[in-house]
Amino acid sequence: MPGPRLGVNIDHVATIRNARGGDAPDPVRAALLAETAGADGITAHLREDRRHIRDGDIEALMAALTVPLNFEMAATAEMQAIALRHRPHAACIVPEKRAERTTEGGLGVAQDEARLAGFVAPLREAGCRVSMFIEADPDQIAACARIGAPVIELHTGTFAEAHWEGDAARRDGELARLAEGVRVALDAGLEVHAGHGLDFDTARMICAVPGIAELNIGHFLIGESVFLGLEEAIRRMRAAMDEGAAA
Ligand code: PXP
Repeated sequence: MPGPRLGVNIDHVATIRNARGGDAPDPVRAALLAETAGADGITAHLREDRRHIRDGDIEALMAALTVPLNFEMAATAEMQAIALRHRPHAACIVPEKRAERTTEGGLGVAQDEARLAGFVAPLREAGCRVSMFIEADPDQIAACARIGAPVIELHTGTFAEAHWEGDAARRDGELARLAEGVRVALDAGLEVHAGHGLDFDTARMICAVPGIAELNIGHFLIGESVFLGLEEAIRRMRAAMDEGAAA
């Protein structure tokens, strides 16, 4: 059985580009190479501070890609306007804090339900497949179903971190929590994605959880491409995911 779809997040190609202020390496070139290597989609997060992906990258990705673009965005009026202008295949709503190094934790959908229901409605009407990036918490999952989001993406950061730290008991506990989240979400009629901090091992493990439709993976793949090349890193990730799903 093939594993979930693989969305390759190219943010950190832009991080390297921006470190020197020029045009190289080009995240669009990386996205096209990822397509060739078998990525099922490309993910890019246009942050409020534009620390990696820039507005022009989104425009260029929309023009160049043949696989779907998953546009990661904060729930702000500015990002909503950009998404409505480009109408990417998918819009993943994430929490965003200026001081954070990366997306920490999931969205508090249950705490901001009325506003988020109003926020996602125009995106849905524009044809974007809206997903909410949340912790595997039954209250958050139920809130996502109530606001009419068809997809959730479960935050795998704590699970991945426990694995890197060699804490197998905590890792397995987190994996069980994610598996229960998948079950609750499927029962609520939602499509389930997952991502954050995944490497070959943790992607293999999470693919053994039935019912996950897509993983979004970035930092590890871009780092690994220094050693393997981007195409080979993606091929190995695809193989790890298929192995996990077949286990
Ligand atoms: N999914 C979401 C919603 C994210 O915000 C990120 C990080 O941008 C990822 C997946 C990918 O995480 P990583 O770069 O750690 O693989």
